[in-house]
Amino acid sequence: MSDMQIAAATPPATLRADYRAPAWLIPEIALDFQLDPARTIVRTRLTVERNGAHHEPLRLDGEGLKLLEVHVDGDALSEGDWTLDDAELSVPLQGDAAVVETLVEIAPDKNSQLMGLYASGGILCTQCEAEGFRRITFFPDRPDVLSRYSVRLEADKQRFPVLLSNGDCIESGDGEAGRHWTLWQDPWPKPCYLFALVAGDLAANRDSFTTCSGKAVSLAIWVREEDLPKTDHAMDALKTSMAWDERVYGREYDLDQFNIVAVSDFNFGAMENKSLNIFNSRYILADADTATDADFDAIAGVVAHEYFHNWSGNRVTCRDWFQLSLKEGFTVFRDQQFSADQGSEAVARIGDVRVLRAAQFPEDAGPLAHPVRPESYIEISNFYTATVYNKGAELIRMMKAILGAEDFRKGSDLYFERHDGEAATCEDFATAMEDASGTDLTQFRRWYSQAGTPKVTARFDYDAEEQSATLALSQTVPVTPGQPDKQPMAIPLKTALLGETSGDPIVDEQLIMLTESEQQIRFENLAEPPVLSLNRGFTAPVSIDRESDAATLAFLSARDDDPFARYEAMQQLMVDTITDAVSGNGSDHGPVIEAVGKTLANNDLDKAFIAEAVLLPSESFVGDQMLIVDPEAIHGAREALRNDLGEALDAEWRAAYAGASGNSYAYNPTAKGLRRLRAVSLSYVAASGADDAAQIAFSQFDSADNMTDRQAALGVLASGEWPERIAALDDFYARYKDDALVLDKWFMVQAMSTRDDTVDAVEALTAHPDFSIENPNRFRSLIGAFGGNQRAFHTASGRGYRLLADHILKADAINPQTAARMLPPLGKWRRFDEERGAMMRAELERILAAPNLSKDVLEQASKSLG
Ligand code: TRP
Ligand code: ZN
Repeated sequence: MSDMQIAAATPPATLRADYRAPAWLIPEIALDFQLDPARTIVRTRLTVERNGAHHEPLRLDGEGLKLLEVHVDGDALSEGDWTLDDAELSVPLQGDAAVVETLVEIAPDKNSQLMGLYASGGILCTQCEAEGFRRITFFPDRPDVLSRYSVRLEADKQRFPVLLSNGDCIESGDGEAGRHWTLWQDPWPKPCYLFALVAGDLAANRDSFTTCSGKAVSLAIWVREEDLPKTDHAMDALKTSMAWDERVYGREYDLDQFNIVAVSDFNFGAMENKSLNIFNSRYILADADTATDADFDAIAGVVAHEYFHNWSGNRVTCRDWFQLSLKEGFTVFRDQQFSADQGSEAVARIGDVRVLRAAQFPEDAGPLAHPVRPESYIEISNFYTATVYNKGAELIRMMKAILGAEDFRKGSDLYFERHDGEAATCEDFATAMEDASGTDLTQFRRWYSQAGTPKVTARFDYDAEEQSATLALSQTVPVTPGQPDKQPMAIPLKTALLGETSGDPIVDEQLIMLTESEQQIRFENLAEPPVLSLNRGFTAPVSIDRESDAATLAFLSARDDDPFARYEAMQQLMVDTITDAVSGNGSDHGPVIEAVGKTLANNDLDKAFIAEAVLLPSESFVGDQMLIVDPEAIHGAREALRNDLGEALDAEWRAAYAGASGNSYAYNPTAKGLRRLRAVSLSYVAASGADDAAQIAFSQFDSADNMTDRQAALGVLASGEWPERIAALDDFYARYKDDALVLDKWFMVQAMSTRDDTVDAVEALTAHPDFSIENPNRFRSLIGAFGGNQRAFHTASGRGYRLLADHILKADAINPQTAARMLPPLGKWRRFDEERGAMMRAELERILAAPNLSKDVLEQASKSLG
């Protein structure tokens, strides 16, 4: 082993328990940028103040910076007056306050990591969360150091006519040699991860919003000129979000300007920089021809999410990165509530739970499991996870269920009032909720510290003679890495009883708090035999083990008055049917067919809900329910059920398809529901193997007046053997090859195909001239989607594993954050047969043995083997 590898094998972990208040505070910072893609000069003036009595030097983080000068109180220091290594500049200071100036040089056009200051399609922009500011200048790069920013930007006027930063533009002017400048001041003290600048040739969609106290805010969404027509939906979403946060949380915007910039190269969805949100263009740009309904919904959700951060994240920020869920869990919950308010609440909840089950439950069950508030990390970027975000949101949702809407709002008001302008902790949030409501959340706090999805077992017995029933509940929290012993959780379960014959509610919905390992609840005066409806609305993010027969599930799927519970019963019936077939117990498709038929025929249900309810669970969700995953058997069993459903209900699917057709495009909940049902019906017609299926799909593909219908048809065609497949793919490519976001869909649809030759297709696509490892969207569209295609990725030869590992290694040299995010599928090796498991481990070992591995990939790969 080389020295490099030995050094790389033991990166230091940061521990939550090691938190110390900052030794120096920086109340003021003045930045001066001489912007140029090849060579940008950053002059930084820090007003520093000793924090408490100590003799620590001023320690400033810095990464990849070329240090040119250091001044203290106006005097140039000479080398030897400070110490510098590859991570830190340390300056000993005598008094309790000083003005420290540094001059550094950076090269944005060489920044392929997309952290710090970088170039994206001719635009210069920044990404500082979590630790990118240290790649721009020397600074204590931690969220509990809050400063007032003044920022001067200077650049070539022709190449960079627009120069933006946080706060208000207070001055601007022309400089020498064709340059110009702007001066920005942000009155709100902020941590450096919320700093941003943008320089580019951009056009603005401008609008304004009048806040509840009558203040006019100028809004602008900045994009390349040709993209301007695609920004109206994002602007609507922004204005709706601003009004919603006033109405629902009493939160008003606090500056005169709010800017959004869209860029094509971005590691994440978007970033909530104070008054200058920077977005991945896929969460801004949309029109009917290029974006699906799901894209439109995601745009509204992300615009709302970033806007809501202005209070939950910016006005009140995080003390340290272990508290990340303080802002992310709360803000995801807020964006989920917002999205639910824009259409069907039940459909929104189904979507939230799907995401949770597809991304968070597997994380909680695997080698990368960690608590919502982690105890340690090697690379913080690896903790922007479904656990911190989505399980974090479930924690807030549970608090609301436990406290009730009114006290929850009081708690939120108290939290914002108490901690405005501060860097707070998850503990502070829980305490505010307790103090405002008088509810004791001591046991509930285990949700922050214990990882793993709790498993609740429910046994329900009815005694006809006594006219009473007993619900026996028990819970276990699985062992997770570093947490062998678990305490019982406080689990809120909305519960009701329905009459078995009448179908009516016979015991009203109540919130049962399961707090013990085992607990019994008795119900009296039950004249009619009851059916149990448990965890209604998915009040708690747990998995429930209840022995229910197909008849009970079918009953609930048809009669439960909680729409989520109906959906859930149907899903359970489908999962049971598929897993029965996989485990060779023989499987009766009859109950699913009957239940789906009934749901389709129910005119009281809205179309969007029907479309979600009749969809089969994904192959990977079925796999997650099994001890050892057999990807081929799951695929076979699921396809057989799809085929039977398609054949048995052929007339119903065609009727639903026809009923949902013929409307010209509109974006509203009803029209979206019709398109969704049309897509689902088409997929079942295709699953039946009907002779005309490919023709119907191609005709929809060809004549569609919107991307939702076109992409749905392409998805069906791309998974089949029909000749129309190539025609559709070629046509789609020719039509959209110059639109990067749509071309991403072309790659993704092929990576998600259920065809036998998907590995070959994906391998071939990695050599396509439009494939790119540099652009995270393109990389994720092909490689990320492939990693999520259970059957193709787990091809028995192991080629899928090799392909993924090869690309993780290639990407790691360019963009470690994006590379590390691709790793989780390989970490599932314990859940597969021995041959597959050994091949997956071998790829993880090969990754670990590679020279110059980033901390990001090193942490994920070594934990995955662990
Ligand atoms: N705070 C951002 C959000 O949730 C997340 C984010 C944007 C991010 N860019 C990032 C996280 C880069 C890590 C690295 O809205
Ligand atoms: Zn966020």
